[in-house]
Amino acid sequence: MNTQSLALIKQSIKTIPDYPKAGIMFRDVTSLLEDHQAYKMAMGLFLERYRDQGFTKVVGTEARGFLFGAPLALELGVGFVPVRKPGKLPRETIAESYELEYGHDTLEMHVDAIKPGDKVLVIDDLLATGGTIEATVKLIRRLGGEVAHAAFVISLPDLGGEQRLANQGLEIFKLCEFE
Ligand code: PRP
Ligand code: ADE
Repeated sequence: MNTQSLALIKQSIKTIPDYPKAGIMFRDVTSLLEDHQAYKMAMGLFLERYRDQGFTKVVGTEARGFLFGAPLALELGVGFVPVRKPGKLPRETIAESYELEYGHDTLEMHVDAIKPGDKVLVIDDLLATGGTIEATVKLIRRLGGEVAHAAFVISLPDLGGEQRLANQGLEIFKLCEFE
């Protein structure tokens, strides 16, 4: 991968200390989205990594995963499946609960969004503890989908998410890391 592009992507991400709670260094992907060049480079790197790999669905998690997952699904020519916080999806859903770096939550997916044998790529803006994507992977597998790849703009490896997802059999692709 082009190291200049990766440096530009990392530089475009602002850090907000003590948000949303004291002690959290919040890595804010909205500043990347505001920078057309950085956003386009990030999408280009995801596309380069995942095109022609046989994926049949892209799954993105609410809310920031939608910002990368939906455009990537369009470029790959496959459907996009949103994983949402409780009570947001109108049809029949399945749910998984999980812990966050600063709280806990539940995620839901439409039961008919993934078909048995779907080859699924999971994407989110950021990997911290891995709880969000572990719950997402459980939802996909409960519906018979195959998932072995997860992509992120940002990884925070000190929080253990990479190891947690490796334990679930996932190969991780990330564009940058922060402590
Ligand atoms: C953030 C981020 C990831 C998740 C990462 O989302 O966008 O989805 O936390 O944390 P984890 O690896 O410890 O699970 P958040 O739940 O804050 O929701 P939002 O995107 O709706 O703000
Ligand atoms: N989600 C979980 N931890 C985060 C962090 N440190 N910055 C931004 N989003 C997050």
